[in-house]
Amino acid sequence: MSTRLEAVEGDITLEHVDAVVNAANAHLAPGGGVCGAIFAAAGPGLREACEALGGAPTGEVRATAGFGLPARWILHAVGPVWHGGDQGEEELLASCYRRSVELAADLGARSLAFPAISTGIYGYPVEPAAEVAVAAVRSAVEDHPLDRVRFVCFDRRTLAAYRAALGQAPGARRR
Ligand code: APR
Repeated sequence: MSTRLEAVEGDITLEHVDAVVNAANAHLAPGGGVCGAIFAAAGPGLREACEALGGAPTGEVRATAGFGLPARWILHAVGPVWHGGDQGEEELLASCYRRSVELAADLGARSLAFPAISTGIYGYPVEPAAEVAVAAVRSAVEDHPLDRVRFVCFDRRTLAAYRAALGQAPGARRR
């Protein structure tokens, strides 16, 4: 069984998938970027659920309910801060993607949507980040197949990077 991988331009809070991934911080606290958008859309129950989890190390992932989101679960992945690339950033970013796929499969999710973890406030360059993301997901779904994995890109440059990493023709499709 093969997992369909796709890149789209859009807002991850609107995704109708079983689980969406949040680009979280180690405190699992509300932040800006996609994290801020997810906390705002999910509602106050998410903050309480995250407080009860007590944080997570970089490269790790924790699950909560989706609360007000269309998704049933939110997987909070703590991406690495970019320090130039020689502080284990690539391995830690790959771990976020791999652990998210594993956790989604454990929960029984069949569809999963990712933002471009670490490429905003945490400063990871988007083109190498997209390569890491696609390679890590392709590898993880070999052992933990899902029906589909969607990379939800907030801007055209990110979409182009994911399309290139997926080996797809460039060209932005807005939904
Ligand atoms: N849907 C999809 N992608 C989004 C959305 C959204 N609604 N909003 C922002 N993005 C994109 C950004 O444009 C960027 O490409 O998500 C990507 C990740 O950027 P950030 O949200 O800044 O995440 P990150 O770089 O991992 O930084 C994490 O920021 O918000 C805080 O609590 C968070 O401290 C943590 C840090």
